[in-house]
Amino acid sequence: MALKGLRPEVLSMNPYEAGKTIEEVRRELGIEKIIKLGSNENAYAPFPEALEAMRAEMKNANRYPDIAFEEIKGLLANIHGVEAKNIAISHGAEGMLQAMGKCFIEKGDEILLPSATYGLYNEISKLMGGRIVSVPLKDFAVDLERAAKAVTKRTKLIWLCNPNNPTGNIVEPRLLDRLFEKLPKNAWVILDEAYAEFAPKDLLPDRVRLISEGRNLVSIRTFSKAYGLAGARLGYAIAGEEIVTVIDTVSEPFNANRIGIAGGVAVLTRDMEACERARLMIIADRQRISESLEGMGLFVVPSNTNFVFFETPFSAEDVADGLLKQGVIVRPCTGWGYDRAIRVTVGTSWEVDVFLETLDKTLNGLEGA
Ligand SMILES: Cc1ncc(COP(=O)(O)O)c(C=O)c1O
Repeated sequence: MALKGLRPEVLSMNPYEAGKTIEEVRRELGIEKIIKLGSNENAYAPFPEALEAMRAEMKNANRYPDIAFEEIKGLLANIHGVEAKNIAISHGAEGMLQAMGKCFIEKGDEILLPSATYGLYNEISKLMGGRIVSVPLKDFAVDLERAAKAVTKRTKLIWLCNPNNPTGNIVEPRLLDRLFEKLPKNAWVILDEAYAEFAPKDLLPDRVRLISEGRNLVSIRTFSKAYGLAGARLGYAIAGEEIVTVIDTVSEPFNANRIGIAGGVAVLTRDMEACERARLMIIADRQRISESLEGMGLFVVPSNTNFVFFETPFSAEDVADGLLKQGVIVRPCTGWGYDRAIRVTVGTSWEVDVFLETLDKTLNGLEGA
């Protein structure tokens, strides 16, 4: 029987499609050794000091965290060359994305959304009653020129995932400047930079300049990827002081937990060497995966993230299933409209070896079928 009383927007939403977990695959297929390359986590983490700090913080779990998040805000402000009042903290980047919906989207607002990007933007926009205007990708990349053409006076918000998930590429920063020229005064760009640490700094938009020029921009970052704390759920935004106050007001109080904050502070203060080593390994292995896949004759999108998007001649579901049966979890991109594309996370070098070998076997099997 249909539930009564729900908002129609709630009924229009789809459940979040998370990558398969190790526990799920163990349960379903009875496989013991599993390599998880479907959720863009950091296989080298948690880093040692973060682990220790989180363990130590557990004894304070009966106490609420510092509601002002002073220590971590100060560290992040320092890293990004802004002030602590320009940083808002959240329960993962996802928490911040939800806050963006609450802050900006009113019923009927036009929301520009690239046709293949992080799925949560669509769901948040629908939940808040926004009207989605889909902007097709161009050559697998977010097309900001086309987005600029789609702007109307009713445009309220643009979700910009940069580098883009699932394709892994980035937009030219000058195109973001141009987009701002076209935007109505009350429209906002939400720049989700979950993977920015894996991209060359000089290819990323200068978010601090844009914010200091008074552009309506919120940059969102996470500790889930380069910093390796996906399970500890810690994210943040860099934005103008006034909007940070609004974000803090609409967010639930204490919207990050003590354990996550302790881990985050430890990574930033004491784990940076290990973190940097892992980052460089991931970037080198990303290159190795891309070259190996190209060597197999496959189409690969150049990546600026910790994952690689590629196409095979076969159905993505068949390829992903074939890999899964041999204990390797990847993400088929069918849900994004790419029937033959796979997104694979760059794991440890050993995991990359296993992935490449297993993929080769799987493709050969499909070819012979
Ligand atoms: C583009 C993008 N934004 C946000 C998130 C969510 O990050 P978090 O774990 O910080 O909530 C992800 C996670 O995969 C992502 O790919």
